[in-house]
Amino acid sequence: MIPISLLIFIVVCGVVNISQCAKILCVFQMPSNSHQVVFQPVWRELSLRGHQVTVLTSAPLKDPTLVNLTEIDLGYLREILTDKFNFIQTNSVRAWPHRKIEEVYKMNYLLAERILKNEQFKKIYQNPNTKFDLIIIQSYVGPIFHALGEIYNAPVVAINSMNAFIGQHFEIGNPHHPAVYTDMYTEYQGELTFLERWHSTFYYLWARYFIYFEGMPKSDAIARKYLGNDIPYLGESVKKLSFLFTTTNPTLIVPRPQVPTHMEIGRLHLKPTKPLPKDYQDYLDNAKEGVVYVSLGSNVLSSMVPEKFRSNLIEALGKIPYKVLWKYEADNLKNLPKNILTKKWVPQQDVLAHPNVKGFVMQCGLQSLEEAFSRNVPVICCPFISDQLMHIKRLEKIEAAIGINPDNVSVDEFKSAIMEIINNKKYKENVKKINDLWNDEPMKPLEKVIWWIEYVIRHNGTSHLKSPTATLPWYQFFLVDVISATLLVFFMPIYLLYLLFNKCCASNKKITSKKQKKEQ
Ligand SMILES: *[C@@H]1O[C@H](CO)[C@@H](O)[C@H](O)[C@H]1NC(C)=O
Ligand SMILES: *[C@@H]1O[C@H](CO)[C@@H](O)[C@H](O)[C@H]1NC(C)=O
Ligand SMILES: *[C@@H]1O[C@H](CO)[C@@H](O)[C@H](O)[C@H]1NC(C)=O
Repeated sequence: MIPISLLIFIVVCGVVNISQCAKILCVFQMPSNSHQVVFQPVWRELSLRGHQVTVLTSAPLKDPTLVNLTEIDLGYLREILTDKFNFIQTNSVRAWPHRKIEEVYKMNYLLAERILKNEQFKKIYQNPNTKFDLIIIQSYVGPIFHALGEIYNAPVVAINSMNAFIGQHFEIGNPHHPAVYTDMYTEYQGELTFLERWHSTFYYLWARYFIYFEGMPKSDAIARKYLGNDIPYLGESVKKLSFLFTTTNPTLIVPRPQVPTHMEIGRLHLKPTKPLPKDYQDYLDNAKEGVVYVSLGSNVLSSMVPEKFRSNLIEALGKIPYKVLWKYEADNLKNLPKNILTKKWVPQQDVLAHPNVKGFVMQCGLQSLEEAFSRNVPVICCPFISDQLMHIKRLEKIEAAIGINPDNVSVDEFKSAIMEIINNKKYKENVKKINDLWNDEPMKPLEKVIWWIEYVIRHNGTSHLKSPTATLPWYQFFLVDVISATLLVFFMPIYLLYLLFNKCCASNKKITSKKQKKEQ
């Protein structure tokens, strides 16, 4: 008899061995820090676990202790976001969701081409001897990099640094019904009204149309141009997606049915609190009356927001009986009220952990929300772009935040929102509840992601977990064919009877009219 402990040892080693030293290629194309911070811990951990990792990213870790890690720096892509593509405008919460999708697709064509033209990357994908056991991509909205799975014959895992676009739900096979679920870019929540369902339905049909006739063919052409003509059509490749991770959770978006190969993760980028630099520590320690922290994130820079909004914000902040710490990236602020301190860079997670920080004025971006709630700080949201409006709609419902419309907010409204969030205890209590819920889970988010990634490596994909919904045509999913056939079966006989009846009447009429003619 083999002792149990030896058995466990053998099993564990076996499992570890199979997934040891996998060669992994990661492409994280979005050149924005709030996206990259979500992926950084994933590739770091994969590297630490002995995998040979090659990463294309605009935010390389550059950590010399990580051996077997190759980072290709895509920092040069940042100008696409700011210069070539006015992200703040095109992705505004006021733009129609379908316009945003079109724009983000366009941006992804641009990003993908610039990445595929990268000389260092070319050396890798043009070398017929390179092999990869797994491809990890930031799927976001553009499907182009799914093609890498085909050229290496390797499973593909997608990680989003946000919720999933409707097209990704189609790819992975999540049942998606427009009466309940729309898209991350709409603000509809919970039970939709008639008009919302109407919009949602047409948005759904538009998305099907757009992906099938425009997004996919264009993405396919780009993939083919660089990766060769031997790959299957991209529309087929995306259906092979082995696993999808989204950084969402049911407190921020409405829970939805999802296939076993889609997992919600979140808070990957959160770090344990570290001591603050001395000047921050002193400022916060000395602010016994409390501090309001202000930052609009890394995509919406405080220096780029509309002038009226900024001046109203400054005036409101000047009128509150608290100190203010503002992450402000430019030097153009003059005559600031005395209680405001601006800094170009702020160790945000550690500042939020300081007990004197009472509230956070922010843009409602996902990563900042996670940071605020993990430190039990209630927030005031001024949504500007992408999914931010959706977050605040949900948070207002559960009374964990106050929303501000940046278009028309007045000084008084701003001030009373800040006073309310700090002085009404329910906000902080609700934020605590959310944080408790988030922390109540069997594994840490990073452990979960790594476990499932290695699962995909161990089993060379997840075809055994594939839901038929991934390949079911939409008209079959909505039973359009069944309902049509049923209607046909019911109404055909009735219609035939009607025809017959009409014919009888007509011939009767003919006979009578003939009779009448004869009688005249
Ligand atoms: C790096 O990769 C080599 C070759 O696969 C392997 O032998 C070595 O253990 C790896 N080093 C670390 C620290 O993971
Ligand atoms: C701002 O605009 C929104 C929608 O356009 C409106 O609902 C709200 O009442 C306005 N607020 C103020 C203070 O005018
Ligand atoms: C993994 O699966 C793909 C397709 O399903 C296959 O072509 C490939 O040979 C498999 N790789 C290994 C190492 O089994």
